[in-house]
Amino acid sequence: MNPFDIIETERLLIRPVRSDDLPEVYARASDPEVLRFTGEVLSYNDTQRLLQKLIDEQSAKAPLGGRAVVLKSKQLNIGYCGFDYLPHSPEKPIEIFYGITRRFWGAGFATEAATAMLHHGFAKLDLKEIVASIHPANLRSMRVAEKIGLVYRTKINCPKQGMVNLLALSKGDYLRSQR
Ligand SMILES: CC(C)(COP(=O)(O)OP(=O)(O)OC[C@H]1O[C@@H](n2cnc3c(N)ncnc32)[C@H](O)[C@@H]1OP(=O)(O)O)[C@@H](O)C(=O)NCCC(=O)NCCS
Repeated sequence: MNPFDIIETERLLIRPVRSDDLPEVYARASDPEVLRFTGEVLSYNDTQRLLQKLIDEQSAKAPLGGRAVVLKSKQLNIGYCGFDYLPHSPEKPIEIFYGITRRFWGAGFATEAATAMLHHGFAKLDLKEIVASIHPANLRSMRVAEKIGLVYRTKINCPKQGMVNLLALSKGDYLRSQR
């Protein structure tokens, strides 16, 4: 993705991360429930540093990297999504990731954002395969991955989370599912 590309869905904009996203990024980075399967709670200062790092890396990492998910009706950053290499897998496939601020869970926003990213990944970036690594107890995320068409393949060892599920979808299977 060009770092300045914006992806629009019915309710969402997926756009580059900005420094004025800090309050919403901190709302997620300080919420243990949001981070239960993916990382550790951050202080306000550490969140500020993380956000600046994401902004600084954005151009160099494109078309990979994280993006902000914005709820159009409120002009509010309600989450993140993006692509990155999956480091702890020998083939280093491209992984899709997503997260939503807790008070917006359960309204289909992660599915809507991930569906748009998947389309972008296959149709625009011509990725041959997209994977996701998800802790088996992260049932919400497993459900999102399944709803967008990713299929369980195997378990892999992730240094921070232990054994996680690896799900995958090839471009061929994606295109067939769209017919
Ligand atoms: C995973 C996450 C992104 C889901 O966001 P969301 O906007 O609530 O997701 P959606 O509303 O699009 O879909 C959630 C699905 O999980 C289902 N779900 C909710 N709680 C569930 C549970 N306890 N068990 C199984 N499914 C559950 C919902 O019913 C929904 O499925 P449905 O549409 O078939 O009813 C959100 O919980 C989150 O940000 N978690 C923290 C970050 C994270 O773990 N990211 C993924 C890393 S792999």
